[in-house]
Amino acid sequence: MRVFQCAVMGSGGVGKSAITVRFINGSYLEWYDPTNRKQFSVDAQPCLLEILDTAGIDQYLTLNDMFIRESEGFILVFSLCQRDTFEEIIRTYDAIQRIKLPEGNQRVPIVIVGNKSDLVDEREVDSTEGEKLALEWQCSYYETSARISTNITAVFENIVRQLRRN
Ligand code: GTP
Ligand code: MG
Repeated sequence: MRVFQCAVMGSGGVGKSAITVRFINGSYLEWYDPTNRKQFSVDAQPCLLEILDTAGIDQYLTLNDMFIRESEGFILVFSLCQRDTFEEIIRTYDAIQRIKLPEGNQRVPIVIVGNKSDLVDEREVDSTEGEKLALEWQCSYYETSARISTNITAVFENIVRQLRRN
């Protein structure tokens, strides 16, 4: 069975842990072991996905560079209700390219995630903005809600499909 490593990155409070726990445990905001791994099947093929749930607080520390070096795929999360978190994933994307491209990676598997889609009245970032960025980066864009469990599995299936292609 193939084993893949992916990191969940983004500003503090956007829902990185909530998304990870929702995927691994199927629960919302409950304690979990941060050495997250889940065995599941994508397109009828089993795989083991190890998920590194980073802390938003490390954003500007060199620790972030280490997480990027150790991961093969990246789930870049922002909050649909907080525009500055959308700007932040662009900086993280730049750091990923800076570190990964010289290592000989042509294409780095990335999924852009706009989380908290359930908070419809508080939205600050338009769907078209996320889609435009995904087109530019040639990756996928999903709008999720860890709270009501929207599109969570789709995000992880997508990263696995990209990792398999690499
Ligand atoms: P750091 O670990 O501090 O970087 O934050 P994080 O990105 O892991 O965020 P976390 O998962 O802890 O979520 C932060 C808060 O956002 C939670 O306490 C939830 O209240 C809220 N939250 C997370 N996901 C959702 C969601 O899909 N919808 C709504 N309404 N709230 C959410
Ligand atoms: Mg967290």
